[in-house]
Amino acid sequence: MSTLILGATSRVASRVAHRYAAAGHDVVLAAIELEEAQALAADVRLRHQVKAVAIRFDATDFDAHPAVIAEAAQVLGGIDVALIAFGAMGDAARARQEFSAARQVIEINYSAAVSVAELLAAHMVARGKGTLIGIASVAGDRGRQSNYLYGSAKGALALYLQGLRNRLHKDGVHVLTVKPGFMDTRMTWGVDTGRVPVLSPEAAAEAIFRAAERGADVVYLPPFWRLIMGGIRAIPEALFKRMSL
Ligand SMILES: NC(=O)c1ccc[n+]([C@@H]2O[C@H](COP(=O)([O-])OP(=O)(O)OC[C@H]3O[C@@H](n4cnc5c(N)ncnc54)[C@H](OP(=O)(O)O)[C@@H]3O)[C@@H](O)[C@H]2O)c1
Repeated sequence: MSTLILGATSRVASRVAHRYAAAGHDVVLAAIELEEAQALAADVRLRHQVKAVAIRFDATDFDAHPAVIAEAAQVLGGIDVALIAFGAMGDAARARQEFSAARQVIEINYSAAVSVAELLAAHMVARGKGTLIGIASVAGDRGRQSNYLYGSAKGALALYLQGLRNRLHKDGVHVLTVKPGFMDTRMTWGVDTGRVPVLSPEAAAEAIFRAAERGADVVYLPPFWRLIMGGIRAIPEALFKRMSL
């Protein structure tokens, strides 16, 4: 069995790589920081005695995406599981003033994810099997003044993955959408999370692995976020726009 991790140096993604390797999967670790991915690959090989190969992957280099997926498929002899983990919060204040900053957030979180997902979908459909996992966010469930740009890209990604799941079901390819709340990673370092519990990367990785294994469609991390976001989505817009969330 084999797994491709895109954005492998994310703390959550690296734990997912270890989790699949522990289950006997060979892994390709694709990341923009090649040296960091190589160190991770060495660690995975040492701990789990599987094949682990690092390759360079820049989500915004769209023209290179086909070669990255082809290389991963060749190294692994076919991709059984793929995790699209890369993402970037961006600087919301800067993005309001410079569209180039806004475009980067949109491209990394949405356009690049769509680009690789389409390539992976074609690969998996040709093999008649596969599991495609995309990490969206609870931020995509309702637009809020504090992070609506990032949230809109993640919301679009979740909608895209929903459609892809609908399309690929008949082909034996499963699509899992992951919607985390707060996780303890570089993305949230320095962010005031109030009294909301922050999930460890290890717990997040285990939950993602298990959700994929049982064929879940959409999973909130931790699960209580499904209730919270259900409540937040139910607030009438006339009231919600007055709340400074
Ligand atoms: N942490 C949270 O609370 C939270 C909540 C909801 C959803 N998420 C989502 O969870 C996923 C994993 O993030 P994380 O929390 O583990 O944060 P993270 O450690 O910041 O991981 C994000 C990863 O994306 C990579 N990345 C950024 N731009 C890239 C590019 N142009 N090309 C290739 N890779 C790029 C980063 O690489 P470099 O660090 O080398 O730039 C990093 O490895 C992301 O999709 C994130 O949006 C996180």
